Amino acid sequence: MTLTNDAWTPSSPTAAPSVGWDLRVGDAWDLSAHIESASIDLVLTSPPYWGLRTYGLDHNEGVLDAWTATGNNPKSAPPYEWYRDNGGVLGLEPYPDWFVAHLVEIFRRIKNAMKPDANLWVNLGDTYFGRWSSIRDEGRQGLGKGERSRRRTPSGGVLHDKQLLMVPARFALAMQEDGWILRNDLVWSKPHVAPRPERDRLRLSHEHFFHFVSRSKVGRPAYYYDLDGVEPGALDVVTASPDRGDSAHSATFPMELVLPRVRSSSPPGGVVLDPFCGTGTTLVAALSEHRRAIGFELSEKFAGIARSRIEEIGILADAEVHS
Ligand SMILES: C[S@@+](CC[C@H](N)C(=O)[O-])C[C@H]1O[C@@H](n2cnc3c(N)ncnc32)[C@H](O)[C@@H]1O
Repeated sequence: MTLTNDAWTPSSPTAAPSVGWDLRVGDAWDLSAHIESASIDLVLTSPPYWGLRTYGLDHNEGVLDAWTATGNNPKSAPPYEWYRDNGGVLGLEPYPDWFVAHLVEIFRRIKNAMKPDANLWVNLGDTYFGRWSSIRDEGRQGLGKGERSRRRTPSGGVLHDKQLLMVPARFALAMQEDGWILRNDLVWSKPHVAPRPERDRLRLSHEHFFHFVSRSKVGRPAYYYDLDGVEPGALDVVTASPDRGDSAHSATFPMELVLPRVRSSSPPGGVVLDPFCGTGTTLVAALSEHRRAIGFELSEKFAGIARSRIEEIGILADAEVHS
């Protein structure tokens, strides 16, 4: 049985799978509202980055005008639900600060589903500002094979041509302000990156993988962690090549980066959630480490690839186990 969004209505809150996995097609914002509270041991994910890809989604470039038309300050981010309902796509916000605010809002909602001793790992890469920036369905900014669209991005303040925006740092600070405790800023170093045409800067060859936990009601934060599960040396810089695969998804993160996070940050048999699961790397890693897994993905195409990858390792979906 293939699970679809139809099977998951607000009146049927989803419990964590008891043995296998569960994959839903839809917006992480909507779907995360219906997970049983305090049921998740680990959230491990890589959301869309700011201003790089469309993932084949239609974005309303007039969303900023729609927001200001009713007297709103352009610098104050609309709630994610308003933005989405007005045609906005996560990652294509006119301002990086809107994007950061939306991610914080989504992770705040996901926090309700996390156990008090759960872990959250978020992988995020950075973007250079350009008033006329290139966006592709699946390729990187300014490079890549796919069709390129140009969009005019509002400038002013720090939003200046050639500026490295420090989006991951802005996100981490905003999450701290929202009550999360930041435990690690793991740097994912990529040994091989595509050539760049610029002659006036170094090539960007790292991304961030932030580890957050919840505050305790009293005393210091206490959360599940098994240091024996991490890489030899337990360092916060990990070198790994991006997974190229044959999955038609250009932003998959490498299994060798994900597996140590699953092993160290969730108990055996625990439940791992990836709310932006793409082709399902997190789910495959979790299941192969004998954890249970839940994935959300907006694109039916990527969710289909994720399902096939999981089926390849021969683990049944929870619905199949119980039918
Ligand atoms: C960086 S990719 C994740 C790739 C994944 N880690 C993998 O290994 O395949 C981000 C994914 O989030 C999906 N996405 C974008 N907006 C979403 C939303 N609002 N809700 C759920 N998924 C979304 C995109 O389609 C994309 O597949």
